[in-house]
Amino acid sequence: MSENKSTHLRTIKSFVKRAGRVTERQQHALDNLKPMYGVETNKTIDINKLFANNGAIIVEVGFGMGQSLLTCAVNNPQHNYIGIEVHEAGVGALLADIDVSQLSNLKVIHDDAVQVFKDNIVDDTLDGIQIFFPDPWHKKRHHKRRLIQTAFVELLVKKLKAGGFIHIATDWENYAEHILMVCNAIPHLINQSSQNTYVPRPASRPMTKYEKRGERLGHGVWDLVFYKK
Ligand SMILES: C[S@@+](CC[C@H](N)C(=O)[O-])C[C@H]1O[C@@H](n2cnc3c(N)ncnc32)[C@H](O)[C@@H]1O
Repeated sequence: MSENKSTHLRTIKSFVKRAGRVTERQQHALDNLKPMYGVETNKTIDINKLFANNGAIIVEVGFGMGQSLLTCAVNNPQHNYIGIEVHEAGVGALLADIDVSQLSNLKVIHDDAVQVFKDNIVDDTLDGIQIFFPDPWHKKRHHKRRLIQTAFVELLVKKLKAGGFIHIATDWENYAEHILMVCNAIPHLINQSSQNTYVPRPASRPMTKYEKRGERLGHGVWDLVFYKK
C-alpha cells in the first residue's frame, strides 16, 4: 500500500486475509499480468485513460474468484469494468481469465476498496458500483466489520455521476435489512423499488459463487438498487 494513503484510515477491516492456497496459474498471473490488466493504487486513477472506449465505467467491490465479473464484462462489451478485491487467489484467477479471453473492458485492483475509494477515485466519475454478496459478518459482535455502513455508502455516492447506480445483493436477511436502512437514509439516493424495499433479481446479474453456495444452504437472495439523484 502506498505511503500517500490517507491518514484517516478505517481501522476495522471488512475482510480478513485468507491464507488459502494460490495456485501456480494464479501466482503466474499475479507476477506477470498486473502491468496489462491491473491498476496501481499509488496515485489518483485517471479513469478516463484506463479503457480504449468511453463506455460506462462500473466498479465491482469484492469479486471473489471473479467468474461473475468476467461474465459481466464478456456479456457487456459496451461497458467497462473495474474489479477491486483483496484476496490474492481471486485476483490471480481473474487476471489469468482476462488474459485467456483477451478482454479490454475489465481491469483489476488488488487492494482494500475502502482505501481505493478514499484515495484513488475521483468524485463524480463512475456510472455504477456493484457489490455482490459482501461478507455478512453474521455474529452481532462482528457487525462493525460489515462493508456496507453509512460512511462507506456516502463515499460511494460521491464517486458516482448523477444518475449512477449502486447495486447490492446479499443472501443474509439481517444484512439486507441493514443495507436497506443505510441506503434509504442517504438523501442523495433513490431506491429503484417503488416500495423503497428490494427489487426482483435483475436478469443481467450473473449467478455468483457465493450465491450458489447460499442456494445450496437454502438461503434467500435480496437485491437492492439505488440511483444517485
Ligand atoms: C463473501 S465474498 C463474495 C465474493 C463474490 N462477490 C461472490 O458473490 O462470489 C466477499 C468478498 O469481498 C472481499 N472483500 C471484503 N472486503 C473487501 C474490501 N474492503 N476491499 C476489497 N474486497 C473486499 C473478500 O475478500 C471476499 O472475496
